[in-house]
Amino acid sequence: MRYPSIIHTRLHKPLPIFHYYLPPPTKPSPMAKSTTWLLLLLLATVVIPISISIVLYRLQPEGFDPVPLAGYSFGESVAVAEKRLGIAASSERIGEGLLPGPEDLAYDGESGYLYTGCADGWVRRVRVAADEPEVEDWAHVVGGRPLGIALGPNKSLLVADAFKGLLRVKEDRSVSLLTDEAEGLKFAFTDGVDVASDGTIYFTDASYKFDLHTYLLDILGGHPYGRLMSFDASTNQTLVLARDLYFPNGVSLSPDQKSLIFCETVLRKCKRYHIQGDKKGKLETFIDNLPGFPDNIRYDGEGHYWIALSVGRTMVWDMLIKYPFLRKVMVAVGKYVRIPQTERDSGVLSVTPDGKPVALYSDPDLNLVTGGLKIGKHLYYGSLVKPYISRIDLAKNVADGE
Ligand SMILES: *[C@@H]1O[C@H](CO)[C@@H](O)[C@H](O)[C@H]1NC(C)=O
Ligand SMILES: *[C@@H]1O[C@H](CO)[C@@H](O)[C@H](O)[C@H]1NC(C)=O
Repeated sequence: MRYPSIIHTRLHKPLPIFHYYLPPPTKPSPMAKSTTWLLLLLLATVVIPISISIVLYRLQPEGFDPVPLAGYSFGESVAVAEKRLGIAASSERIGEGLLPGPEDLAYDGESGYLYTGCADGWVRRVRVAADEPEVEDWAHVVGGRPLGIALGPNKSLLVADAFKGLLRVKEDRSVSLLTDEAEGLKFAFTDGVDVASDGTIYFTDASYKFDLHTYLLDILGGHPYGRLMSFDASTNQTLVLARDLYFPNGVSLSPDQKSLIFCETVLRKCKRYHIQGDKKGKLETFIDNLPGFPDNIRYDGEGHYWIALSVGRTMVWDMLIKYPFLRKVMVAVGKYVRIPQTERDSGVLSVTPDGKPVALYSDPDLNLVTGGLKIGKHLYYGSLVKPYISRIDLAKNVADGE
């Protein structure tokens, strides 16, 4: 049995003597009440936030320190006049089961072969014009993950390999490393590549900090660890053209060969880099406020760039980008809980040579479409998470949602 404390008695008027023989009051005294409130207040404003911060801090992977994302536009997504939504159902699958995660596409119009890099390190090709397109193993990058792929001189292929760097596959299928560092900084995520008509190779390293296994940390961190570079095969020289980029991904020469268009995935935009003329060395926006996060970009030789949108724009991503703290929470929670994939509305956007959007082909059920290209009357597209290349007949006007 508890009795009123000394403090209690001191603070109160002298009590009748019998009070001491009664049970203590069940209601908390005003003092106890205010102490409880003070404790609760302390808990809510100091102890809990500090504990959460400590736990969150300890749960952050090394090198992960999210910051606000400079240059991200929260404005309306760009308006696209022509939209074909729900393309998955009307797509035909090519090489199903034989093409794991075909990331980028390169087409050789002379031979009719479409080349792609797969998750198991193989570069494979398919003669797409054939009635029954057959998949052929072309070259194996041991321990690699070929991503960006482009046709080079003398029937060679240039490959941006996520783990290895910039590679060349010769006509005899031999694979060699061209470069894997610039300015003393090794590439961690070589991603996109294209070749100019003069033979200069242009390519990107999405991040010098995070690789294919940890790239989400790069995206969620909001730091610009990416570079756009060139490689000159006659001198073996690697030059950094632009640095401090936010996950630079696909790259494509402009049809006049005077500039490069490259996708800066995290910013949801593509930029132009001038390689010739008055603006040589300058960067400018090519297209901003894309309806999704751009991956590879390819020019079809007929007046359009094809930009793969790996993930459609969502409220969740906008929120994450706005609040670095949410990104911390997500990464901490993600260590223990598998965060459900909410990514959707992936697809391909066609754009004019001056950056005007023309048509969007997407599907709510598609995710991680990483490369798209028009060949003849078909749009071909590949995805990191599918074991085949898809194509849709652009001449057939399939209604939305079918
Ligand atoms: C292409 O092959 C020819 C003949 O072997 C050679 O002279 C030329 O240097 C090669 N070009 C390149 C860019 O490798
Ligand atoms: C470039 O590098 C390759 C492979 O290391 C080498 O065989 C070639 O001689 C080099 N070329 C020049 C111009 O240094």
